[in-house]
Amino acid sequence: MAFESQRVPEGEARRSRRRGYPSYEEALRLLRSYVSDEKILKHSIACAETAFEMAETIHRRHPELPLDPEKVRVGGLLHDIGKARPGEHELNSVAILREEGIPELADIVLHSYPYEIFLCKGEERPEYLPRSLENKIVVYADFLRDQEARAVGMEERIAGIRARKRGETERMAALKLAEPRLLRLKDEIEALLS
Ligand SMILES: [Fe+2]
Repeated sequence: MAFESQRVPEGEARRSRRRGYPSYEEALRLLRSYVSDEKILKHSIACAETAFEMAETIHRRHPELPLDPEKVRVGGLLHDIGKARPGEHELNSVAILREEGIPELADIVLHSYPYEIFLCKGEERPEYLPRSLENKIVVYADFLRDQEARAVGMEERIAGIRARKRGETERMAALKLAEPRLLRLKDEIEALLS
């Protein structure tokens, strides 16, 4: 189901086609068509707002940087859509958004630490690292909102993940490997915000 084919007001659909990605309302309908878990929906909405606020601030302070705050907001909303499928949800989110015909968003929703998960399996996949500023903001916003959609710090969120997944040896090794990179990403975004 491509996002264009969903029933939306004509004007809104026209604007979306011109922009290349769905409006927030269209994206929320798309998310709900895949995910019914209220906790995931709440976290996704909170992540979208946090990502949007940061993107707007950075855009205001650094108008020269390639950054579309609304795109970051919609990307933040859809970053966990892959939780609808079994397997690595981070990669599933990218796959679903490509299937839905929204490559612009697929390119900015890779989050968490799939690069290190694959590194632990002996595979180096640099394509699993966030490259654009828009993607990095989505990654950081995800760490600033916990599963209950509460505002937290990145270190607190990482500690929470560690406590929740302590039985998953491989994932924990990947997180340990990813932590310095994630903290560098935080510093990069915080420097642009301040
Ligand atoms: Fe998330």
